Amino acid sequence: MIKKGKALDICCGAGTNALYLAKKGFQVTGIDISSKAIKYAKEKAKKANAKTQFQVQNFLTLPFEDEEFDFVFDMGCFHHVKVKDRNTFIKGVHRVLKKNGTYLMVCFSYKNGSAWNHFTKEQLIQLFSNHFKIKNIEHVASVEGDGYVRYFYSVLMEKNLPS
Ligand SMILES: C[S@@+](CC[C@H](N)C(=O)[O-])C[C@H]1O[C@@H](n2cnc3c(N)ncnc32)[C@H](O)[C@@H]1O
Repeated sequence: MIKKGKALDICCGAGTNALYLAKKGFQVTGIDISSKAIKYAKEKAKKANAKTQFQVQNFLTLPFEDEEFDFVFDMGCFHHVKVKDRNTFIKGVHRVLKKNGTYLMVCFSYKNGSAWNHFTKEQLIQLFSNHFKIKNIEHVASVEGDGYVRYFYSVLMEKNLPS
C-alpha cells in the first residue's frame, strides 16, 4: 500500500491516472511536455471536479522543491528518456521525492523485441539500484487498444539512499 500524500504523475498525458490517484486521496500534480495533453487533462479534471494541478513541463527540468513528493508515478515515461539523459532523469525523480518516498515506474520489456528502450530486469536493476531500494519487479502483459499484447516491467522503488 502506497502512503497517501503529494504525488507527481510524470508524463501524465491526458491525466487519466492523475485523476484516478486524486480519487484515491492523493494530492496530484501531473506534468507533460504536450500542451494539448495538459489542456485535455485540465478539462477532464474540471469536469470531474478533481483537485489536481497540471503543468506543461519537461521531465529533465522538474520545477519542484527537493523532497516535495511522497510518490512519483511513472506510467510509460522512463522509456521515452534518451539514453544520454537517463541519469539526469533518475536524479531528478530522486531529488523531488521525500526520504522513504515511493517511485512506481512502468516501462517496456525486452519481450516486445529488441530496442533501445526495451529493458531487461537486469538492466533496470543496474539503472536504478544506485539511487533507490528496489522493492518489487513484476513482468506484466497487457492487451493494448490495438489488440496486441505488449509486455512491461513494473518496478516499485523506495528512496532511502543518498543520490
Ligand atoms: C506513453 S505516454 C504515457 C501517458 C500517461 N502516463 C498514460 O499512462 O496514459 C508518454 C507521455 O510522455 C510525454 N513526454 C514525452 N517526452 C516528455 C518530456 N521530455 N517531458 C515530459 N513529458 C514527456 C508525452 O507527451 C506522452 O504524453
